[in-house]
Amino acid sequence: MSFLDKKKLEQHIKDKKIKGDLSKLFSDIEKANNKLIQDFKLTYKKKKRVDDINDKKEKKPLLKILSKEQTKILPDWIKKEGLSKCFIMGNTSKTILTPSGKKYNLDNKLNDLTGGEWSYFLRSVINTRYSTQGEESYAHDIRKIHPSPKPPQLMRDIIKFFTKKNELVLDYFMGVGGTLIGASLIERKALGIDLSSKYINAYKKASKKLNLNEQITIKGDSLDLLKNGKEIKKFLGKQKFSLIAIDPPYGDMMSREKTGEAMKKNQSTKSTPFTKLNKDLGNMNWNDFLNQFVKSIKYSMNFLKDRGHIVVFIKDLQPKNGSVNLLHADLIQKLNDIENLNYLGTKIWSDESINLYPYGYPFSFVANQLHQYILIFRKKI
Ligand SMILES: C[S@@+](CC[C@H](N)C(=O)[O-])C[C@H]1O[C@@H](n2cnc3c(N)ncnc32)[C@H](O)[C@@H]1O
Repeated sequence: MSFLDKKKLEQHIKDKKIKGDLSKLFSDIEKANNKLIQDFKLTYKKKKRVDDINDKKEKKPLLKILSKEQTKILPDWIKKEGLSKCFIMGNTSKTILTPSGKKYNLDNKLNDLTGGEWSYFLRSVINTRYSTQGEESYAHDIRKIHPSPKPPQLMRDIIKFFTKKNELVLDYFMGVGGTLIGASLIERKALGIDLSSKYINAYKKASKKLNLNEQITIKGDSLDLLKNGKEIKKFLGKQKFSLIAIDPPYGDMMSREKTGEAMKKNQSTKSTPFTKLNKDLGNMNWNDFLNQFVKSIKYSMNFLKDRGHIVVFIKDLQPKNGSVNLLHADLIQKLNDIENLNYLGTKIWSDESINLYPYGYPFSFVANQLHQYILIFRKKI
């Protein structure tokens, strides 16, 4: 639809003796117009939604419906908006409506999110371009001693969906602590385990630099620690983990000689194993890795609460010699076969900060894998 009276505009341009490419000018004006209209529509829709909610007749003041005990356990963001200004709405009186139009369901046992935030997290693809410099990098300068550190912001958002404030998170392949920093950013308690004290120390240094609460860490072999259970139980007391978030080695991907990016950049193609230890799952072939990894998940479930979640990062290898190398598919199948564990779905994390290279050019298609899979499982009751 065009909102321009082109004839009038042409006349105006003639009168003013403006010269130039008229069709480009019209198209620019049209684009600017459409953007304005879109923005207006969005603002109007948002306002109408809040007004509609406010007009609902069945809303009742929150403080008249909920007991003191019930209000105590409400998420902080609701308290900050002022409980006396909140309403309870809906036929079942389960939905809180805050003065800013946000909604929270009283039956939400999983997290502290609003309905809108919940919907936003459900999108199957996460696109990010996190900075590796300055404040937004969350001490990347320290964490970069690790070959594949996870962005704390990404981990924070995942933890935020699968836990409530003060709940417990376990990462038994913690590296330099992407998960632990993510947990500290939103007041969750976490336990981290890694074979390497070099990585654990880098996490501690980063945490200090960021002025964050330092989480508990243990140096050791996860399988031993999970099987034995003593130190983990000491951390847990009477509680259990709500979330196990792990980013295991992707088979022996890091201990193979590099191709791809390193080669294009004329950098060393030498492998960068996480550690040289035999117990490092990153030094095992795919079948041994799978066996050990499945074992670790089974052991870890003893410390996970009922309906607690396990979130696993994994990346595929390039297809080679007729093998499709879909590590994520193998892993989903293996973990879904574990008794009392259900596969719920996958999110794809696309890291747009990865450089583009003409792999295979000019002979063959070679995917530049910007993405990793985030596999989500839940413990059955
Ligand atoms: C992909 S990295 C995790 C990176 C981490 N997410 C971060 O943000 O830094 C995998 C980690 O698992 C550790 N690891 C491998 N095998 C292990 C084992 N058996 N027990 C404990 N840690 C292990 C490695 O040392 C490595 O740091």
